[in-house]
Amino acid sequence: MNENIIYISTTGETFYSPKNLSPGNCQVFKINDSSKSFEIFLIKSPLELNKKKNNEIFAYKNICPHQKISLDWKPGSFFNYDKTAIQCSTHGALFRIYDGFCFKGPCSGKSLEKVDFKIKNDKIIFFL
Ligand code: FES
Repeated sequence: MNENIIYISTTGETFYSPKNLSPGNCQVFKINDSSKSFEIFLIKSPLELNKKKNNEIFAYKNICPHQKISLDWKPGSFFNYDKTAIQCSTHGALFRIYDGFCFKGPCSGKSLEKVDFKIKNDKIIFFL
């Protein structure tokens, strides 16, 4: 496993600290190097869901397992209406926030690709 530090977010920050990611919000990172180009999004549940999951943040590739296209209906918007799930904007598939499992929609039973990460010196290090 290679350790790649991701530098650029869609908001133009040179790095991003997840401490600034408030509950019920997402942050997208564009991954561009010579061998790959895709997006990763961080997602943090709303507070009421976070109580069960210890205020966790999760990271996934922005690729729907149904048609291998982006999930968000506008950049950085991944939640369904009541923010209880991740929703694909194309055909409405719903995914659990904490593990990316699709429980409703055309790709039921499949999962988003989870991305492992750690926080070091206020930077996010994704393990790609
Ligand atoms: S492309 Fe995501 S549900 Fe069809």
